[in-house]
Amino acid sequence: MRRLRTNRVVSKDDAKELALAERVEMEARITDSFARPLPVVAPGWQFEDYANHNPWRREMFDHLGPLEGKTILDLGCGWHPTPVYFALAGAARVVATDVSPKAIEHVEQAAAVNGVADRIEAVCCPAEDMPFADDEFDLVHGEAVLHHLQLDDAGVELARVMRPGARGAFKDPLGHNKVLEAARDHLPYAWKHAHKGTDEPLTIDRLEQFGRSFRLMRTRGHGLLSLVPTYLSRRRRTTVVEVTEKVDEQLLEKVPVLQRYARFTTVLVAA
Ligand SMILES: C[S@@+](CC[C@H](N)C(=O)[O-])C[C@H]1O[C@@H](n2cnc3c(N)ncnc32)[C@H](O)[C@@H]1O
Repeated sequence: MRRLRTNRVVSKDDAKELALAERVEMEARITDSFARPLPVVAPGWQFEDYANHNPWRREMFDHLGPLEGKTILDLGCGWHPTPVYFALAGAARVVATDVSPKAIEHVEQAAAVNGVADRIEAVCCPAEDMPFADDEFDLVHGEAVLHHLQLDDAGVELARVMRPGARGAFKDPLGHNKVLEAARDHLPYAWKHAHKGTDEPLTIDRLEQFGRSFRLMRTRGHGLLSLVPTYLSRRRRTTVVEVTEKVDEQLLEKVPVLQRYARFTTVLVAA
């Protein structure tokens, strides 16, 4: 029988056996291979427009609170312009990390092009072992990065570099919905890199273990009925996507047990 085509470079079980150095090498190779153009932020750009773009992003930035004057760690930023956005929003210092040397170089160039190089440092390092002092950060942000990590080790390391009272906000895929998991591993996604490495969508159990490193942790599932229109529209924000997302927000609020089957979760922590 023909085997189903897979998007994975390594099976989820084999990925679990890899040492940190092997994981980092694989992830760096994958991220290095899909460079993006340098982001140039338009005059008049407002951070609030970015934060309000989706309900889950609003939730993350409400939890983080004001960015002005803060020292922010942007974990696994990849090719995303978030370090530049945080600097433009008034952060005193943004430290952007990733394991991809090319993404790190890209952050440095993006900072220069947008006139915020004095406030951004880009550091190539794994989240599980970071070259930062204890209590160095006020805020930590990460989108789609926790599910690439050795999560328990990363939790301990993040708690170490967060000052007491510091906050962290993450958003990552959940892996309880088996149909969705099969689609992720086998269907082509127009907006994603063709190859998946060490990443494994999260489970509530793994998150609860991660949360033990912090004073508090809260999760909230997002995206359920909107799964199909989001896929079919190739993640464009069509009316159907926006309407189903609104229905999802209400449904998941009213029936929280469904949140574990959602597409992704926000993970909000405080040290
Ligand atoms: C799905 S991408 C998300 C990138 C970006 N945050 C975004 O929202 O577009 C995951 C990122 O995590 C990085 N990554 C993988 N393993 C990592 C690790 N152990 N420590 C830090 N970053 C890692 C990858 O290189 C990649 O840039």
